[in-house]
Amino acid sequence: MSTVLKVAGVTKIFGGLTALDSVSFELEKGKVLGLVGPNGSGKSTLLNVLSGVYRPEDGSVTLHDRNVTGLAPYLITTQGMARTFQNLQLFQGLSVGDNVLVGRTCRMSSTLVGSIFGSSFSRKEEREAKEQARSLLSLVGLDRFINEPPSMLSYGQRRLLEIARALASSPSVLMLDEPCAGLSQGEADELAAFIRTVSAQGTSVIVIEHNMRFIMGLVDHIVALNFGRKIAEGDPRSIRENEDVIAAYLGRKKRHAEN
Ligand SMILES: Nc1ncnc2c1ncn2[C@@H]1O[C@H](COP(=O)(O)OP(=O)(O)OP(=O)(O)O)[C@@H](O)[C@H]1O
Ligand SMILES: [Mg+2]
Repeated sequence: MSTVLKVAGVTKIFGGLTALDSVSFELEKGKVLGLVGPNGSGKSTLLNVLSGVYRPEDGSVTLHDRNVTGLAPYLITTQGMARTFQNLQLFQGLSVGDNVLVGRTCRMSSTLVGSIFGSSFSRKEEREAKEQARSLLSLVGLDRFINEPPSMLSYGQRRLLEIARALASSPSVLMLDEPCAGLSQGEADELAAFIRTVSAQGTSVIVIEHNMRFIMGLVDHIVALNFGRKIAEGDPRSIRENEDVIAAYLGRKKRHAEN
């Protein structure tokens, strides 16, 4: 198995708060990794460091043997990492199809030149990009909405649209931050099947999710965080039975109950 992504000793500090404390793990090609932990444990912060939104104070992120630590988000996308956000980030003024095309632009070398001079090369690229957008939309069952605004979509469909847009950059690592939020269990099951298809085609996936049924049935490997530290790592079953993980979740619940 080949390692696609290597995270080594990543530390992120906000003011006095250590949101990530020397977190390390590796991700292999075509594998699905679940990132779990109680609220505030650092999951989104880790995705933000991996995708270049935050620069870590320490540690490194290596993608395909290239050090991408602290690169700007668009450069990291170009290197092969794409993501969705915990809160939906769609362009309401663009059609569903154009929302997917936006995700592809980092792969289109001649967009700007082509749109000015109307060269045939750019028309070819544009045609290919549109074909790809249509096929991605049909993969997630949204091709009939290609010319509609995102407002025509249900919440669950908008989440799928975000994933289609992330896939438009042909990433080797796809990162999803709570993709099941707002989905019914039926929609979550469909999403799990879709993620399995994506990983079977060779894309590695990192997924943050509180829906344990979803995580347990989907992922190959789990990294569990608590207070910014990796407290456990292993297959879903070993994590479910891990005492530190159970204590982390129970501890947070107890604290919530006391408030
Ligand atoms: N931009 C920021 N500035 C200051 N503190 C931040 C920032 N982003 C996150 N934090 C803090 O870092 C810690 C980790 O937050 P993070 O959002 O990564 O948690 P999470 O595991 O994704 O939680 P949730 O499950 O609620 O989404 C929290 O204490 C949070 O308040
Ligand atoms: Mg989060």
